[in-house]
Amino acid sequence: MTCYLLIPAAGSGKRMGADRNKLLLPLLDKPILQWTLEAAIASPAISWIGVIAQPHDYPEFQKIFNRLNTTKPIRLIQGGDTRQASVFNGLKALPTDGDRVLIHDGARCLATPELFDRCDESLQTMQGFIAAVPVKDTIKIVDGQTIVDTPNRDHLWAAQTPQGFQVDLLKNAHLTAVDLGWEVTDDAALFEKVGLEVKIVMGEETNLKVTTPQDLAIAEFILKQRQS
Ligand code: C5P
Repeated sequence: MTCYLLIPAAGSGKRMGADRNKLLLPLLDKPILQWTLEAAIASPAISWIGVIAQPHDYPEFQKIFNRLNTTKPIRLIQGGDTRQASVFNGLKALPTDGDRVLIHDGARCLATPELFDRCDESLQTMQGFIAAVPVKDTIKIVDGQTIVDTPNRDHLWAAQTPQGFQVDLLKNAHLTAVDLGWEVTDDAALFEKVGLEVKIVMGEETNLKVTTPQDLAIAEFILKQRQS
């Protein structure tokens, strides 16, 4: 059976302060999205890629696809108003001959091909997982300006993507969310809400999500180190 990859890429560049989709911003010599796609293409585990986008970005995204040296199918899928709606559209557009799907934010452009491979291998024995890393900071729960709790750090992990799921289970979770009006910021949260088990797969410290101009500078530094 094959593993599909959906890349939500239909956001705006608001927190980046950019005048266009942040995934089109240059990172060293190519756009952020191209780095993400090249890592996914280099992973033998991935057989098909769906990029979820807003139609006004289709021409620029297509130019990126044309520059990629691959025979893997890469499709454009229309995004929604939220990440959740975008992923739901992606799930509806999947080919029907696979049972596993990875979902990876376009903005996590430093994920390595090895991470995609490891994620797919893990998913073969799981209903759902997220890549995550143990948190290094002590985390405080705050109400207003007052700390109300300090959770035990041994139980705290920072969620990343890829997140991966058995396709049918995730589709059903999204349908339930539409019926019941649930709004969540990642797919694992939907899985948890319908009572399905989500496991942790060790992520990568460098797998940051490019959100602010500072993240872009850090990403550039990491890539230069990898190239040297
Ligand atoms: O905004 P944030 O960086 O948290 O978004 C995570 C990912 O979800 C990004 O890759 C973004 O392009 C995508 N997204 C989407 N559709 C939306 C909003 C965000 O595909 N409506």
